[in-house]
Amino acid sequence: MLQVSNLKAAYGKIEALHGISFQVNRGEIVTLIGANGAGKSTTLKALMRLRPPESPVVTGGDITVDGVSLLDMAAHRVVADIGMTLAPEGRRIFGNLTVMENLQLASWSRREQDTDKAIRHIFDLFPRLAERARQRSDTLSGGEQQMLAIGRALMTQCAILLLDEPSMGLAPLIMYDMFRTLKKLNAEAGLTLIIVEQNAHLALQVADRGYVLDTGQIVAEGPAQELLHRPEIKAAYLGG
Ligand SMILES: Nc1ncnc2c1ncn2[C@@H]1O[C@H](COP(=O)(O)OP(=O)(O)OP(=O)(O)O)[C@@H](O)[C@H]1O
Ligand SMILES: [Mg+2]
Repeated sequence: MLQVSNLKAAYGKIEALHGISFQVNRGEIVTLIGANGAGKSTTLKALMRLRPPESPVVTGGDITVDGVSLLDMAAHRVVADIGMTLAPEGRRIFGNLTVMENLQLASWSRREQDTDKAIRHIFDLFPRLAERARQRSDTLSGGEQQMLAIGRALMTQCAILLLDEPSMGLAPLIMYDMFRTLKKLNAEAGLTLIIVEQNAHLALQVADRGYVLDTGQIVAEGPAQELLHRPEIKAAYLGG
């Protein structure tokens, strides 16, 4: 479904991705792991066709979904036509709006006008958000804000969801809960997930396959269970 071939991306004159290739099949959970600055967020932003200065310029290679190249597409078309959405690093919700307003605003790209039904579905997935529907978002806890960020992404009716560090700042119990919910969305709704994580152990436990990024290059790949047991991966990314 998603094919990334020899992708190069740069911020100004500095190349951040040096020609990476990977693929994601429909219904799969794939994780990209790697250290700080490896190029994980850069990869997701390039896939979404977001623009400089926060996002890189693609300088080579291709990104296709079902054979259609995304290179000349604007980010909003990637969301609305391709059905690929990013839940970005650091949440990016509208703090001065309520939970309900944040969800309503995120529904702009839906083909059908079934916003209320979609919101009910998100409240089923995250009951905490339902209890706080009328609360200003900047007063939510970190975990609740992360749930809202994912809820917003789901409001776009995406087929492929990109998640940048969904576990960041979450207490272990909430983190496991979140990953259980993601796994459920994958199993029940067939949502394809690309998860970027520094918590490589957790990500590899939920993923089908993984890729390891190191300074803009893919240095390892394989079934997640196999990566979990490779000695060099354990030593470098899983705390020995
Ligand atoms: N907007 C930007 N302008 C210039 N350089 C950038 C920009 N964003 C990222 N970079 C650089 O690109 C490289 C890859 O950064 P990226 O954010 O993709 O890393 P990451 O793997 O997501 O790291 P982390 O785990 O810390 O989030 C880094 O060297 C970073 O400094
Ligand atoms: Mg990042």
